[in-house]
Amino acid sequence: MNATAPLSRSDLEAFWLPFTPNRQFKSQPRILAKAKGMYYWTPEGRQILDAVAGLWCVNAGHGRSEITQAVATQLETLDYAPPFQMGHPPAFALANALVKIAPKGLDHVFFTNSGSESVDTALKIALAYHRARGEGTRTRLIGRERGYHGVGFGGISVGGIPPNRKVWSASLIPGVDHLPHTHDPARNAFSRGVPEHGAHLADELERIVALHDASNIAAVIIEPIAGSTGVLIPPRGYLQRVREICDKHGILLILDEVITGFGRTGSAFAATEFGIRPDMVTCAKGLTNGCVPMGAVLLSKQIYEAFMQGPDGIELFHGYTYSAHPTACAAGLAALGIYEREGLLTRAKALAPQWEEAAHSLRGLSHVIDVRNYGLILGLELASIPGKVGARAFEVYKKCFERGVLIRQSGEVIALSPPLIVEPAQIDQIFTTLRDVLRETQ
Ligand SMILES: Cc1ncc(COP(=O)(O)O)c(C=O)c1O
Repeated sequence: MNATAPLSRSDLEAFWLPFTPNRQFKSQPRILAKAKGMYYWTPEGRQILDAVAGLWCVNAGHGRSEITQAVATQLETLDYAPPFQMGHPPAFALANALVKIAPKGLDHVFFTNSGSESVDTALKIALAYHRARGEGTRTRLIGRERGYHGVGFGGISVGGIPPNRKVWSASLIPGVDHLPHTHDPARNAFSRGVPEHGAHLADELERIVALHDASNIAAVIIEPIAGSTGVLIPPRGYLQRVREICDKHGILLILDEVITGFGRTGSAFAATEFGIRPDMVTCAKGLTNGCVPMGAVLLSKQIYEAFMQGPDGIELFHGYTYSAHPTACAAGLAALGIYEREGLLTRAKALAPQWEEAAHSLRGLSHVIDVRNYGLILGLELASIPGKVGARAFEVYKKCFERGVLIRQSGEVIALSPPLIVEPAQIDQIFTTLRDVLRETQ
């Protein structure tokens, strides 16, 4: 197979694309064939500037030879090792390297293969942790409206995206409550960085505790910055308030950092950026620079030790055939090495002022009803065409792609999250293209 050759209509039929309107896509496909640095190329050779780091994951840019070499060497040295009852050096090395950049107090690592698996793993650990400590009544889980935590049954249950839950509504896990989301455009539209209004929404957790009693509640899981439902930045003081209420009632706080991890906010993790001490962090994506599937749960000594006090034997009946896969570990170690050498975990901080100015310069263009930003993240919200939510943003997405910039569209929100190696001139190109396209959009 020639990986860069154009595809015919019949080539497209067998593959069922995820989270994609397949019939529409197959009638007008967008195909990527090659990538290097900040760019993709189509099979016809058209260059596309990547303004979303693939899918919030290629933080060090595409085609990094350090990762390619580490993966190739690992495949030749040890291609696979069973993760149950066996270990291999890269797994321990990556866990140790992760702990070094993890939010303070998180010093153990459980490996998975994706963000969804990290979420389900963290939820299972939370339930098992309380049980191991003799508080087995703590079984309720609390998520948030507009939360996205992947597509496992645990993740869609604590998640708050209606279409992700609708079809499986009868099979969602029981005992889940949702905090209200924090999106308040009436008061916070065009906020720069954290919005001012909404910390009080954390107090809804007190209401849920009062309803069920803390003795029945295991954990709260939230994204520090929600990405998939349109870039929702936490209001000032909100995360701190959630932490305080969790502490008061012995509830674990899980921060889902699948998109915010590995430098997106200007710190290695959003927990560090916002000064929050979570009990667990779920991550994936940037862990391997997106090039080999891998996820992880970072957790506190307190949680780990609670399991190590029990009777001899397997402490947690959980794991995957590919947990800590040697190839993924090699990719992860190489990616973390690049992040450290090139200062990428904090580079977003230096670029954030230019990013913010460019983003807010779009204010005033027709249909733009909100611009929100943090680190190297942007959410740009458009007014909907009546009865056609998402149609306008999808037009913008298609036109940007035609003009050589890959953006992301979710409903009526355009989300940007470029590789952290982005240069100032490329930031200009992204926003110039977006501005031109918005000006032409009806
Ligand atoms: C916050 C969050 N959690 C979980 C996931 C699921 O990750 P994956 O698609 O790797 O399963 C995502 C994916 O975008 C995410 O943004």
